[in-house]
Amino acid sequence: MSDLIEGYLGKTVEGRKSRLPAKLDFIQSVTGGFLALFMWAHMMLVASILVSEEFMYQVTKLLEGSFIFEGGNPLLVSIVAIVIFVIFIVHAALGMRKLPGNFKQYQVIKAHAKSMGHDDTKLWFIQAYTGFAMFFLASIHLYVIMTHPDQIGPYESSARVWEEYMWPLYILLLLAVEFHGTIGLYRLCVKWGWFDGENPKATRKALKKLKWALTVFFLVLGFASLAAYMKIGYENHKNGVDRGSYQPSAQIMNYELKTKSVGGIA
Ligand code: HEM
Repeated sequence: MSDLIEGYLGKTVEGRKSRLPAKLDFIQSVTGGFLALFMWAHMMLVASILVSEEFMYQVTKLLEGSFIFEGGNPLLVSIVAIVIFVIFIVHAALGMRKLPGNFKQYQVIKAHAKSMGHDDTKLWFIQAYTGFAMFFLASIHLYVIMTHPDQIGPYESSARVWEEYMWPLYILLLLAVEFHGTIGLYRLCVKWGWFDGENPKATRKALKKLKWALTVFFLVLGFASLAAYMKIGYENHKNGVDRGSYQPSAQIMNYELKTKSVGGIA
């Protein structure tokens, strides 16, 4: 059998089925699981604004490696964003394999899902729609962050959210990512049989409850954070406060200490 025929039949020359689809599924699971967990960490970091502007500033500086470089280096943020972007592209490319390729295929899937009336099959549709939306929404966000890593902070982020009209995009992206991420993790558990235990049916029920709880938690946290950025952005814009004018109180204290000691010597 020629290699060309093997490609069409999905079988090797010896008549064995190709292992490539299983390998691709595995890579899709690993990249998806990583991205979902990354998003949990990301949402907690973004939510630092709910504690205080100062705390969000300190978190930003920490992620810029301020413990290694004096004042932090935004290049670190760019590098992380590029790595995430590459993983995101790999995951999206592998996800595309599962989408219907034409209207006929779409009709077949729809009819199949309707006849089964199965909850997890309905979840698959949410995955497909939210995944498709993220192709565009997440790419814009990642590109902006990648190219403006030095413009992250309580005032700068708020100005981007409010003055640069990122908030409508963030509302859609937040909805897409929170549904997609938690459904994805749930499906990973079911697909690979993690936590199956004695009674997989009961586990599946419990996992589904946990999935909903996590979706609600991260949506509430995300929308509360977004509202905080919008409020700061709106007020700064109204009061003519420059986006680059944020002064952390820790820095002001340092400055005061310095001037005092200089004064003392003089
Ligand atoms: C290294 C990669 C990333 C970095 C450094 C990053 C950084 C940030 C920052 C600083 C904000 C606050 C608003 C702003 O400054 O514009 C933000 C908001 C947001 N990001 Fe990311 N992000 C990254 C990746 C992602 C990815 C992969 C997604 C989703 C696929 C995502 C989804 C969101 C959403 C939905 C918001 C708005 C959340 C809210 O305000 O509650 N981010 N991100």
